[in-house]
Amino acid sequence: MSDILLVTSSIFGENSKSSAVAHDILERLETAKPGAHVTARETNTIPHFSGEFLGALTTPPDKRDAAQHNMVANADAMIAEVEAADTIVIAAPMYNFTIPSTLKAWLDHIARAGRTFRYTEKGPEGLLKGKKVYVAASRGGLYANGGPAAPMDFQEPYLRAMLGFLGLNDVTFLYAEGQSISPDAAAEGMRKARAAVATLLTPLAAAA
Ligand SMILES: Cc1cc2nc3c(=O)[nH]c(=O)nc-3n(C[C@H](O)[C@H](O)[C@H](O)COP(=O)(O)O)c2cc1C
Repeated sequence: MSDILLVTSSIFGENSKSSAVAHDILERLETAKPGAHVTARETNTIPHFSGEFLGALTTPPDKRDAAQHNMVANADAMIAEVEAADTIVIAAPMYNFTIPSTLKAWLDHIARAGRTFRYTEKGPEGLLKGKKVYVAASRGGLYANGGPAAPMDFQEPYLRAMLGFLGLNDVTFLYAEGQSISPDAAAEGMRKARAAVATLLTPLAAAA
């Protein structure tokens, strides 16, 4: 049975464009993988990486107080979700030219030396291997495929680098662009995103 992890990170809740595209992806994946188990992780409630959390991680388990146990247990749960998933769908809005800070907080919590990556004599090695990742990337402007704002895109390069560092190298981006340009441009951006999802995933569903 397939295990799909859906990660959402918009501040707009049900009106989120990235989440809408991510749900499109999820629906088609569920058609392609009947009976798939889906886990949803909303990043808005994840605390930022802190000195307290680092202190909890570096304190031996039998010496941790209740708050430290809780912090490590929360991060362990996030890591377990990623490890269990064969497919990960990430809804990633662009805020100030990169990902939301809460999505960064999720990445900070799942990046754990010795668990999701390790250092070897040949350099770092990602340990989250053999998983497919889809990123629904929403943006106000136009960045993809050499768009005019491409040099300001620190969302896709950062996500590709960070996910790759963890061993997640099979990553496909689907873009909902132009969301701040005009209502027409926003609608066209969503139409293109949904069409791209259909083109990419309909064959997968047909083969199921
Ligand atoms: C706080 C904030 C910062 C934003 N920064 C950018 C930006 O730097 N570049 C851009 O193209 N769009 C930017 N936008 C527009 C969003 O990327 C766009 O509205 C997108 O659809 C948001 O996705 P969401 O609805 O899933 O949250 C920003 C929006 C907000 C609310």
